[in-house]
Amino acid sequence: MFKVGIVTVSDKGSKGDREDLSGQAIREVITTGLAAEVTHYAIIPDEIDQIKETLIEYADVIGVDLILTTGGTGFAPRDWTPEATREVVERLVPGIPEVMRAVSLTKTNRAMLSRAAAGIRGKTLIINLPGSPKAVRECLEAVVPALQHGLEILKGEAGECAR
Ligand code: MTE
Repeated sequence: MFKVGIVTVSDKGSKGDREDLSGQAIREVITTGLAAEVTHYAIIPDEIDQIKETLIEYADVIGVDLILTTGGTGFAPRDWTPEATREVVERLVPGIPEVMRAVSLTKTNRAMLSRAAAGIRGKTLIINLPGSPKAVRECLEAVVPALQHGLEILKGEAGECAR
């Protein structure tokens, strides 16, 4: 079982003004499509330092295999999740957001407005997802099929990519 941390980045959600349907959508999709359990969950405001601290804690202290963030990937003045992610990862994984945007573009041309990033810190993969529950489902469903293999390689449990 892979350990998963969900980080919902939302000013309104962190104040209790909005129900976190996107975090719930992540939980549903990830536990259906992958041998994974959600062991940690946080809902925090759009503060870049708090986002970085949470990502570092989940990766380095708790040691989850996968962190999925939702929210803060767009153009609003307080959308800084991709920047926080880029600052804490050691290696970018551009293919994951490339696929999310490519698949999402078949559903809405607004998909190009998500600046979502993905990358690796130590043995933890971090993936940004957009903020809406609909977008979360569409993006996550597109990348989940490749995650089992990617996470096994990251953990050193699979060394062979040939099929
Ligand atoms: N991707 C998918 N698959 N479906 C969507 O509905 N919405 C877009 C985009 N990506 C969307 C999507 C919109 S409208 C925006 S503004 C950006 O994600 C950024 O969203 P965020 O600021 O909530 O992260």
